[in-house]
Amino acid sequence: MQPLLDDVELGEIRDDFPILSQTVHGKPLIYFDNAATSQKPRIVIAVMNDYYTRYNANVHRGIHALAERATREYELARQKLVRFLNAESPETVIFTRGTTESINLVAQTWARANLKPGDEILITWMEHHSNIIPWYQVAAATGAVIKRIPLTADGTLDLNQPFSERTKLVAVTHASNVLGTINPIRQIADAAHRVGAVILVDGAQAAPHIAVDVQALGCDFYALSGHKMLGPTGSGVLYGKRALLEAMPPFLGGGEMIREVRADGFTCNDLPYKFEAGTPAIAEGIGLGVAVDYLQQVGLGKIRQHEQEITAYAMARMAEFPEIVIYGPRDASQRSGLVAFTMGDIHPHDMATFLDEEGIAIRAGHHCAQPLHKHLGLSATSRASFYLYNTKTEVDTFIEALRKVKKFFGACPTGRQMGF
Ligand SMILES: Cc1ncc(COP(=O)(O)O)c(C=O)c1O
Repeated sequence: MQPLLDDVELGEIRDDFPILSQTVHGKPLIYFDNAATSQKPRIVIAVMNDYYTRYNANVHRGIHALAERATREYELARQKLVRFLNAESPETVIFTRGTTESINLVAQTWARANLKPGDEILITWMEHHSNIIPWYQVAAATGAVIKRIPLTADGTLDLNQPFSERTKLVAVTHASNVLGTINPIRQIADAAHRVGAVILVDGAQAAPHIAVDVQALGCDFYALSGHKMLGPTGSGVLYGKRALLEAMPPFLGGGEMIREVRADGFTCNDLPYKFEAGTPAIAEGIGLGVAVDYLQQVGLGKIRQHEQEITAYAMARMAEFPEIVIYGPRDASQRSGLVAFTMGDIHPHDMATFLDEEGIAIRAGHHCAQPLHKHLGLSATSRASFYLYNTKTEVDTFIEALRKVKKFFGACPTGRQMGF
């Protein structure tokens, strides 16, 4: 199959990311830590600079030219996110600081208001701590009980058990940040709705890489982080179905989220402002809008295809090492663009430190998924994660570096479950 991003296009994309053209420890930088955070194209950096240089002002309040421009650009960014997610309307797209805040918003409002003792919150074994801890907190406060969808041997979800009548909330990741598994959200949403439950989808690792249509997915809430999808840190979105958002109590209290404040109380502002207390991250929101423009200009289909090819290539080349165990589905079409692995008994931190000396940035540790690692019988893994600007040539350099790692540390094979 021909790559949909040809070499010329790939070269142009790489030129858009100034950070990529540097050396680290004397070697050309290879950035394979995209699941932690992505790099930013020039236009995102420029638009934030432009805001601070030419129209820095607070939004929604001022009656002067700068404030009106800032408000216009900020609300334009929201419109872009509405289209990006195929959300019903701007009222259903709330700006947050990222996935973590989006999930906490739902936990502290919808969940606290709706769950009672004995109700079940269904999560999975592959969740990031951001989609675990808020539910532990809600369970402690309401008496609800946490249940988990089990994993199959290849790291996909075992959906054979029907959801219980007691299931009131399903909180599931769209794509795992360790196994790479892309979960069948529509199927899970249908199963959740059949028992009357609400579904929240953690889209941190999916929205940057695959086209997301919240209506087609059938999800009630969808959370994403701007910084993982070419946008600034401190930007993110919570999508929610309008009827649910309307019925939820506010999250944070303060300016912007009120319509009227009296000596003895307040009334809430309309959506989405009801959930946007205080001065928002204005430059970041505008930057996220431009990041979304960039992703759509390249095309999410092309990006997905490119990452699938890089991932399949990396997995095939890593199979040259009998000591390497890769976690998650074997089939690259079932996974997002990341590969978590172990190499014999080499500690992932030693691996990452050695690769850093070679100019290669990967992540090592539990990747904020400790229960999953425990479940796999591991304390840590190494993770290489790819994005639209990564190349097969970089993968080749990575493989040569792995050879040096093996020679230096002398890896011995270890038997593992749930990996291959
Ligand atoms: C699957 C998943 N969910 C949630 C998060 C949390 O994202 P953030 O730290 O941007 O809020 C991450 C970040 O790595 C993630 O990978």
